[in-house]
Amino acid sequence: MSEQQKSQLLVTAKEAMKYAYAPYSGFSVGAAVLTAEGRVYSGCNIENASFGATNCAERTAIFKAVSEGCSSISKIAVVCSSGHYAYPCGICRQVIAEFATDDMIVILEDSDKGILELPFKEFLPAAFTGKDIVADDKQEE
Ligand code: THU
Repeated sequence: MSEQQKSQLLVTAKEAMKYAYAPYSGFSVGAAVLTAEGRVYSGCNIENASFGATNCAERTAIFKAVSEGCSSISKIAVVCSSGHYAYPCGICRQVIAEFATDDMIVILEDSDKGILELPFKEFLPAAFTGKDIVADDKQEE
């Protein structure tokens, strides 16, 4: 990945973080995804008084991309207001797995430790995917 592409995704994620709606946790998160078509979508966390209805920044960005016709994501940058690495939560990892290219990269930044580029495969080994769904009438006895 080029340095320019990496910094563009991080800058876009930081821009999106400004729009975080996080009155309950006070923890803002921003994400930016690069799709296989070369388009960039960003998102922030959007909290709710009914805490379970909260949507994470990663899923906001991915749902925006998918709702506009993109179905494959090759890179995601995630940042958070603590300045530490913003590792995606378990639900987001499952959603990322649905749309990730085989070689998808996760980009994280810590203000002291620098930038990490990690293969998404390391985030959700042995993932449950569409391949694991077998219809009842196709199951072996
Ligand atoms: N959050 C994200 O946006 N992404 C994650 O991967 C982890 C958590 C948000 C959800 C909530 O608004 C706040 O961080 C605290 O959990």
